[in-house]
Amino acid sequence: MRQPLIVGNWKMHKTAAEGQALARAIREGLHATTVEVVVCPPFTALPAVHAVLHGSPIQVGAQNMHWEDAGAFTGEISPVMLKEWCRYVIIGHSERRQYFHEDDETVRRKVAAALRHGLTPILCVGETLAQREAGQTGAVVATQTRRALEGLTPEQVAGLVIAYEPVWAIGTGRAATGADAEEVIQRRVRGTLAEAFGAEVARRVRVLYGGSVTPENIGEFVCRPGIDGALVGGASLKAESFLGIIHETARAKA
Ligand code: PGA
Repeated sequence: MRQPLIVGNWKMHKTAAEGQALARAIREGLHATTVEVVVCPPFTALPAVHAVLHGSPIQVGAQNMHWEDAGAFTGEISPVMLKEWCRYVIIGHSERRQYFHEDDETVRRKVAAALRHGLTPILCVGETLAQREAGQTGAVVATQTRRALEGLTPEQVAGLVIAYEPVWAIGTGRAATGADAEEVIQRRVRGTLAEAFGAEVARRVRVLYGGSVTPENIGEFVCRPGIDGALVGGASLKAESFLGIIHETARAKA
């Protein structure tokens, strides 16, 4: 029932011109597929990438946003501005939490603001290595999930995307095992959704795995019934590896 989803997070890579070239290569290499595809360029490349992908099945997302519509917030970008170019927005990525001090409360405000403007949040949750080693993975993921969604209706939550990204697996080449990711996603992400919003919502939300995903290991994740796709960083910066991940996902979910 849930459409598989592969999201590319380009992080702080690609100028507008480079982003257009990458988007064009992805568009040209993508054959008809059951997988929904989203690319998330940096803000400065959004209009250029949107122009290349307009009319294609590939959607555009942003990597962050502010929760206010407008105001004296130097350097920030609002959901009203993103709406011109994007359908999706990544919220609460661990790099935002770690380097820019975002906490569960700012993440909650951003999720609510995105929904208010018709953007689909891709909410990121995940434990650090220290938290994992202290046996806190389940509690951390459940708390991040619950606090980000406080105040939303079940209908709003059902349309969300959640990405489970263990922080120690991001950009390290050390992915989680498929079994581990499935366990956290089913018990802690979907389990928390079921408690707070009901079993039907928990069934409808799309949940991705993220952290060192490659064309070689994606099958290990998307073969699991609870994992609907991936949030891909490094391997989304080259058309060939990103397309490989999409095709492997289509094959596994067929
Ligand atoms: P990675 O990044 O695929 O390079 O590990 C994933 C992410 O941060 O979303």
